[in-house]
Amino acid sequence: MRQKIVAGNWKMNGTPRETEALLKALVAAGRTPENCAMVVCPPYLVLHLADEILKDSPIMLGAQDMSVHDRGAYTAEVSAEMLLTAGASYVILGHSERRQYHAESDQLVNAKAKKALADGLIPIICVGETLEEREADRTEEVVGSQIGGVLAGFAPDMIARSVIAYEPVWAIGTGKTATPEMAQAVHRFIRNRVADLNQEAAETVPILYGGSVKPDNADGLLSQPDIDGALVGGAALKADDFVAIIDAA
Ligand code: 13P
Repeated sequence: MRQKIVAGNWKMNGTPRETEALLKALVAAGRTPENCAMVVCPPYLVLHLADEILKDSPIMLGAQDMSVHDRGAYTAEVSAEMLLTAGASYVILGHSERRQYHAESDQLVNAKAKKALADGLIPIICVGETLEEREADRTEEVVGSQIGGVLAGFAPDMIARSVIAYEPVWAIGTGKTATPEMAQAVHRFIRNRVADLNQEAAETVPILYGGSVKPDNADGLLSQPDIDGALVGGAALKADDFVAIIDAA
């Protein structure tokens, strides 16, 4: 049975005061689901604070990006080691907002994911097509090429230790969600692509769906056979909504 994961990507939201309020509410909700990891990914600056608040809770911590380098003259970058010492065990890589606003390529995401795995972080590696690409019927071509690129050179155990997130760009922050059937079709496609690399790893790797996941659509999405959890943006900023999505998983 594959591990389920519900991860909250807070993006650029979360002052110390907001972080404290939201995390205390999540801790108070007291969920300890058995086969579902609960992860929150706040901004770097509040990771230490989040770690302090979550220390006796099953909720795990992740970051939203990291540097491919160990240390040195890379202004404003944050290393895997820094994330680990701040209490993170996951790191989101290749989010479409990083690809769009910071020109991150599959090649860079691949290098970052290898670095994350080597240093002991679990990468949540994001892929997904734009609206233009979907409308041109290029979803499989685009997502297939991203999967090939981000997993290039991965040994089977590296795939098995990773998490993939399918986030159609047109569904992010728009309120437009892929239907469960649309999402399932792409998840199946991704799993088949991974199986071309390694059959066993494809059975193990969790594939999360992201893009306007809300309490009212979580059930339908998360009951699909190849959808192993959710990467949640806006709804992760409301404790009740995030808990409801965890309950659905
Ligand atoms: P929304 O849930 O706000 O659409 O964001 C999805 C996302 O980008 C998570 O990484």
